[in-house]
Amino acid sequence: MTISTIFLLTLFSVIYGSGATHHLFINLQTLSSDYSSNQPYRTAYHFQPPKNWINDPNGPLRYGGLYHLFYQYNPKGAVWGNIVWAHSVSKDLVNWAPLDPAIFPSQPSDINGCWSGSATLLHGNKPVILYTGIDPMNHQVQNLAQPKNLSDPFLREWVKTPKNPLMAPTSANKINSSSFRDPTTAWLGKDGHWRVLVGSKRRTRGMALLYISKDFFNWVQAKHPLHSTLGSGMWECPDFFPVLNSGQLGVDTSVNGDYVSHVLKVSLDDKKHDYYMIGSYNAAKDVFVPDEGLNSEFVLRYDYGKYYASKTFFDDGKKRRVLLGWVNESSSVADDIKKGWSGIHAIPRAIWLHKSGKQLVQWPVVEIEKLRANPVNLAPKLIKGGQLVQINGVTATQADVEISFQVSKLGKAEVLGYLTDPQILCSKKGSAVKSGLGPFGLLVFASEGLQEYTSVFFRIFRYQHKNLVLLCSDQSRSSLNKNNDLTTYGTFVDVDPLHEKLSLRTLIDHSVVESFGGEGRACITARVYPTLAINDKAKIYAFNNGTSDVNISRLSAWSMKKAHIH
Ligand code: FRU
Repeated sequence: MTISTIFLLTLFSVIYGSGATHHLFINLQTLSSDYSSNQPYRTAYHFQPPKNWINDPNGPLRYGGLYHLFYQYNPKGAVWGNIVWAHSVSKDLVNWAPLDPAIFPSQPSDINGCWSGSATLLHGNKPVILYTGIDPMNHQVQNLAQPKNLSDPFLREWVKTPKNPLMAPTSANKINSSSFRDPTTAWLGKDGHWRVLVGSKRRTRGMALLYISKDFFNWVQAKHPLHSTLGSGMWECPDFFPVLNSGQLGVDTSVNGDYVSHVLKVSLDDKKHDYYMIGSYNAAKDVFVPDEGLNSEFVLRYDYGKYYASKTFFDDGKKRRVLLGWVNESSSVADDIKKGWSGIHAIPRAIWLHKSGKQLVQWPVVEIEKLRANPVNLAPKLIKGGQLVQINGVTATQADVEISFQVSKLGKAEVLGYLTDPQILCSKKGSAVKSGLGPFGLLVFASEGLQEYTSVFFRIFRYQHKNLVLLCSDQSRSSLNKNNDLTTYGTFVDVDPLHEKLSLRTLIDHSVVESFGGEGRACITARVYPTLAINDKAKIYAFNNGTSDVNISRLSAWSMKKAHIH
């Protein structure tokens, strides 16, 4: 099949699924590609299956000393469709071994698809999965599956209860049958009853429906959702968990008390971003109350780039909460079919509450540092306005770079008259636009003559007597192939440049640039597909394109070894 036929087919068959957020390319769902061996964009240490489509991480858990990752997978093609729960296991969240799909259509209650869901560890360390099934009427219902053999640490076989579905839309509960999906990990109340959330909407009001059960099989819908917001649209993949008010350790999902805050995260179908709110869980009323003064409804995001349908789990081994998320492609459907795959997962991130209590902090799990090789350390140095410093000695397509800047002359910062959306600010003021302080940061996937590069950088503004730090990831020049999504991303970072260094860590992996600013206070993930800056042709630079000099107080870089993923 030629690419132009693929394009035509795609154009003619694009329809929106009844309640699925993914485009349905009916004719392409089972189209296996020639799977070219020339694969410059396949990642080396980000999770991805050998071929085909992947979306949400599902049911992560640690059992028998192994991490289990399930994920939405199309076994037949590189676009969304035919969805099953694929399954991989790992000892370290870095290297993974594939197993056979764990959950696939086999009952009337999931015959048209096994969509997202979560795992819960019941009393006696017994895992159980709740997931959304698509029934013969294309209604979304919630199902349960349990491991067949608890003495198998690989949890290879899962048995569905004949009682499925356990939760379903009916005329009595008035739940919209195409907006009822993605059950969370359950938590235990003081009354000894389990609670679980299911994402939904009523007209434009997005909501997290609450269900309660004594035995995990018989579920009763609570009178009120745990939380809802008018105008936010469908809430996909809700996640609800406690975080300690101080420190970096995580706690089990059922923990509550005045020493924790609660986080409610939802994936907004209308915006395609993962938003979270920090607040408290009023267990007596079974409601979530966002903290006041945070302006917290749909302001905070896990990641200001491409990152969706994420889910956390409590890792009882390392006593941390770990966040997993899906990073979609930014390439055309035709290119995805040509390369034979689509979608990766971000590097698992440890997640905790920042000491300000106003936001979360995210940092790549420490195990990823096992892949670091060939360290390169630069002595602190001044980088002049207009200067480029090449970072030699690391594999530029597969690297981990940590850089910190120190700025002295804050008086040179450009004055911002009014507060603008940071993403728009980054698009208007890309890496080529000079200002008093910034842009300075990294150029990655840079080609020899700089025809291609992706820039991740800071820019400092003065706004109402305060210094405002902007972090941008500018993809506008990332590829000569203009069929890709080249959107520029940006966010403000809550750091004080007078007293703190401006730190940036960027994980570079063939077609992904995953950046952590302000020691994990701002994350931006981007997908890029350079045509010149591939393989050994790519370069990495530190740059300063502002008019003032800045100090590089630290620069450490490593090549990253390939993880064993498949
Ligand atoms: C999010 C999502 C979920 C759904 C799944 C289907 O990306 O749309 O709401 O369960 O993907 O694959």
